[in-house]
Amino acid sequence: MTRILITSALPYINGIKHLGNLAGSMLPADVYARFQRARGVQTLYICATDEHGTPAELGAAAAGQDVRAYCDEQHQIQRDLYDRFGMSWDHFGRSSSVQNRILTQRFAQSLWEAGFIEARTTQQVYSNADKRFLPDRYVVGTCPHCGYDAARGDQCDNCTRQLDPVDLIKPRSAVSGSEDIEIRDSKHLFLRQTAFAGKLRDWITDKKGQWPLLVTSTALKWLDEGLQDRGITRDLEWGVPVNAADWGPNPAGERPDVEGLAGKVFYVWFDAPIEYIAATWEWAAAFPGADPADETSYERWWRAPLASDVTYVEFMGKDNVPFHTVGFPCTLFGLNETQTADGAWRPASNAPWKVVDTLKGFNWLNYYGGRFSTTHQRGVFIDAALEILPADYWRWWIMANAPEGSDATFTWEQFQAQVNADLADVLGNFVNRILKFTETRFEGAVPEGGEAGPLELKLYADVEAKLAELTENLEAIEMRKACQSLRQLWVLGNQYLTEAAPWTAIKTDPERAGTAVRTGLNLVALFGAVSEPFIPFAAEKILGAVGLPFKDWWPNGTGAEVLNRLGVGRKVAAPEVLFKKVENEQVAEWIARFGGPEPA
Ligand code: 2FM
Ligand code: ZN
Repeated sequence: MTRILITSALPYINGIKHLGNLAGSMLPADVYARFQRARGVQTLYICATDEHGTPAELGAAAAGQDVRAYCDEQHQIQRDLYDRFGMSWDHFGRSSSVQNRILTQRFAQSLWEAGFIEARTTQQVYSNADKRFLPDRYVVGTCPHCGYDAARGDQCDNCTRQLDPVDLIKPRSAVSGSEDIEIRDSKHLFLRQTAFAGKLRDWITDKKGQWPLLVTSTALKWLDEGLQDRGITRDLEWGVPVNAADWGPNPAGERPDVEGLAGKVFYVWFDAPIEYIAATWEWAAAFPGADPADETSYERWWRAPLASDVTYVEFMGKDNVPFHTVGFPCTLFGLNETQTADGAWRPASNAPWKVVDTLKGFNWLNYYGGRFSTTHQRGVFIDAALEILPADYWRWWIMANAPEGSDATFTWEQFQAQVNADLADVLGNFVNRILKFTETRFEGAVPEGGEAGPLELKLYADVEAKLAELTENLEAIEMRKACQSLRQLWVLGNQYLTEAAPWTAIKTDPERAGTAVRTGLNLVALFGAVSEPFIPFAAEKILGAVGLPFKDWWPNGTGAEVLNRLGVGRKVAAPEVLFKKVENEQVAEWIARFGGPEPA
């Protein structure tokens, strides 16, 4: 059996994330991790806050805090919210960890010594007023492509194009607003991505049909447009320092320009994906009695041959796809292989690092057709979401509407209709109906009943087929389809109960009523187990109602087996109301608070 390693894109440290951020990375990864664990697969789900770069420095400056203190505080705030949202990661780390510094520096050194990193003199934006360089988001100006006047140095929020700070028209400092800006030379390191263009193309082409089309087409588009070498250092104070003084010569016998590189740090997009590995090291080092220096403990998940039974699955939104199909793989290819003079590749190490096996990318979740926006505080953010409704409502709606094939849109009206129908009317009502009846007519215990009749036999067959479909959809990480299968499973339960009608049968045929109640209670147990990845808080209550432990069971028997799991006489009890309906007044209040459709 293979082990499964799961990572979800690391949320930036600055600020609480919105539902759109969750939809494309952390939440589907969590559902998948819970599913794999329930099936008994050894699973490691890793995430962390992305703490370097201009988002962290600017966030700290806006909060009037020292960057480290700001990151400490924000990490804790995010961690608490994700816990309340039910994120079940094995470790939620920090890219500012010591492990990430060690690995980032070590990787850069290896890449330099293998000839995949080179130093170049570049032109950078310098602010005379601030007496500093203004990399990435430190500079704002007019987008040369669409004319948007608040484009950031690294990207235009309006047309989403990647930018270079020197491309901006009328640039000004994001710190002081000063337009007293000049272009100065600065030495920087570049990852020679162009060396890997052919390799990347072969690798991505091979994934066509296995990975979402969104992912392979985005990656191939980048390759078609012509891959560029990527600057992997910045003139910033906060980040992993460039440790060029430690490096040996490159294959041409050159040593790095230690003086020219003094005071620089690695670009956030260079060290952030390395944190996937470093966070695994943080996780391993945190075990009681662990030797923090024992590298085999995390390499067991990341490096062959120890990790050869590991399947590595990444989750992310579409804006992150280029960095994970080009940037990070180039780092890993460069560590794993060398190129000989005739252009052929050969292994550089007999312990290569794992490159992603399955990359699940998502489109956007929009808010009333427009983008959720952190900058403009548009949409619902996790803290507010949890303040108004329990996590399971959000988890269910987001996964049932996962932006897989295309962008999806959140509206309060559709949210209300769907959670009321699926969670309150179908699942909640079923669980409540059968358990209340068991309490009043069967002394709160699983009745013996009689033999399965035609209704039960049909149910066994239908449930078995639907379960197989659900399992298949989860294996394929098709979240929308998985939610559909799960909903249909709940509906099968309701239909069965309506047809078997134990409340009628009890008057004439108590044994028949007992069979229906016994079967209904087994459906409750089944629903608790298979709903757990999506709605873990409700699932815990549902399983508790029929006296089962939470988690760690995924039904894989026949319909007859999975619906005869509960022993006769087992005590059961109706849970408190599982899902209250969302009322029209609430919707009106939330639209007023969060904003609704844009005025035409
Ligand atoms: O786009 C983002 O939110 C980045 N913080 C994602 C980083 S993913 C990874 F590579 F660490
Ligand atoms: Zn633009």
